[in-house]
Amino acid sequence: MFLRFFNYSISVSAVVLFSSLSYGVPKPTNSEPIQPIRKPKGLNTNKVELGKKLFFEPRLSKSGFISCNSCHNVMLSGTDNMPVSIGHKWQLGPVNSPTVFNSSYNFVQFWNGRAKDLEEQAGGPIEADKEMASSHTAAVAVMNSIPGYISEFRKVYGSKPISIKMIQNAMAEFEKSLVTTGSRFDKWLDGDTKAITQTEYDGYQLFKAKGCTSCHMGAAVGGTMYQKLGLVKEYKYDKKNMGRYEITKKNADKRFFKVPILRNIELTYPYFHDGAVWDLKEAVEIMAEIQLGLKVNPKERDAIVAFLKTLTGEIPKLTLPVLYPSSLSTAKPSTL
Ligand code: HEC
Ligand code: HEC
Repeated sequence: MFLRFFNYSISVSAVVLFSSLSYGVPKPTNSEPIQPIRKPKGLNTNKVELGKKLFFEPRLSKSGFISCNSCHNVMLSGTDNMPVSIGHKWQLGPVNSPTVFNSSYNFVQFWNGRAKDLEEQAGGPIEADKEMASSHTAAVAVMNSIPGYISEFRKVYGSKPISIKMIQNAMAEFEKSLVTTGSRFDKWLDGDTKAITQTEYDGYQLFKAKGCTSCHMGAAVGGTMYQKLGLVKEYKYDKKNMGRYEITKKNADKRFFKVPILRNIELTYPYFHDGAVWDLKEAVEIMAEIQLGLKVNPKERDAIVAFLKTLTGEIPKLTLPVLYPSSLSTAKPSTL
């Protein structure tokens, strides 16, 4: 009797062990709120290459020192990992720099959505006083003073003179190529039940059950809507930035921000529009409390964080562009 029971318990645990080893966690259902992120198709590779040069081009800034990559470091996280960015003359900007990785998945650009797409967005920083502090006219003049750029723009856009529109268009095409595929979570969504652990799986179930996916969803796990920061309870750090309201001046838009994408969230610290939070665990606790009116216990919180870390994808491997030398007519750097 005892022996039989003993045998039985051995075989049960063997089955449990066997199944967790060879089958992993349950498979995704047909209706997951998050979809795998895919490499974009049909990009114009000449534009992408030109846009890459422009993304790394410090001469588009007044100081000749700041490029898009200064604040969106594509060797790291697509951000500067600073609470707020440092721009022209070491000025601090008003908000945290979001990542350029997967930014094409945002339905609008900027925390308050003031640019409709990447192309429109790319015109902003060149002129922003606290960023690159140049002007569109000056940026175009710099391009037109560099023979290497003149011929490369011709190759891509034909014989018309270089325009700010072309600069923005090429930058946007490059940014569209910055998609981080191959995360462990995507492998699981694609049917590999061993790609994530039981804790990570549990964390994902909590992420759905608690209601996080009512705002953070889709292939980029966000970037599909505006929502109020502090829906249930006021956010305790920055209380001044009114978000979308600053653009529309409608009371109903007060404190509404674009829901950020959570792909690579492990890498894009510090968090929130003011970059006030460095610890992802704290960010999760804050969200549960102020967006959903819930307390998560440490075990739940840690499981959600473990899940969020499975969203880290492969950082695109880029060949560094070689930029063209200036000519004598290229505007000299100015630190005024
Ligand atoms: C001085 C730092 C700085 C520089 C230089 C800079 N950015 Fe940004 N970028 C930011 C900050 C800060 C924000 C957020 C601003 C906001 O939402 O109001 C931002 C927002 C963005 C966004 C929107 C992302 C999102 O999730 O909404 C994109 C895309 C972007 N920048 C691309 C660029 C490109 C392209 C360049 C070069 C032309 C550039 N940035 C130069 C700091 C910088
Ligand atoms: C009602 C909509 C809503 C819900 C529900 C929600 N969020 Fe958010 N989430 C937002 C918004 C809006 C922001 C940006 C707020 C800001 O910084 O101004 C944000 C920001 C975040 C950030 C920081 C992102 C960054 O790049 O700085 C994390 C992490 C996050 N949410 C995780 C969660 C988790 C985990 C849950 C569930 C416990 C959750 N969110 C529930 C709307 C929501």
